[in-house]
Amino acid sequence: MPNVTFSSPKLKKDITVYATAGDCSTLLSVAREHSIPVDFECENGECGSCAVQVIVLENKTPLGVNLTEKEKIALKLSGRISNEQIEAAERSDVPPPWRLACQFIVRGEDILVKF
Ligand code: FES
Repeated sequence: MPNVTFSSPKLKKDITVYATAGDCSTLLSVAREHSIPVDFECENGECGSCAVQVIVLENKTPLGVNLTEKEKIALKLSGRISNEQIEAAERSDVPPPWRLACQFIVRGEDILVKF
């Protein structure tokens, strides 16, 4: 069961929640379920308003590294990610610095989410 810790100037302190094991929720739906004020608009990977920094807190190969096609476009357009970072994620499982909360699927690993 992964711990998802949210950290933001919008919060009085960091909040850690437990995502349900085997659940394939998006990060945005986990945030909303726990009333964490992550921005969003389209919920479809197009507006980029839900961009968050995701840091994997475990010393094993990160899961779900690959960006969706929509994430690549939205994050590149907003200047949050480079072609090199996309390539590193796809070729070498290097986690990209930014994700879209409405596209990122929470898997069985502890993460820190900054927004
Ligand atoms: S809410 Fe629009 S890209 Fe996630």
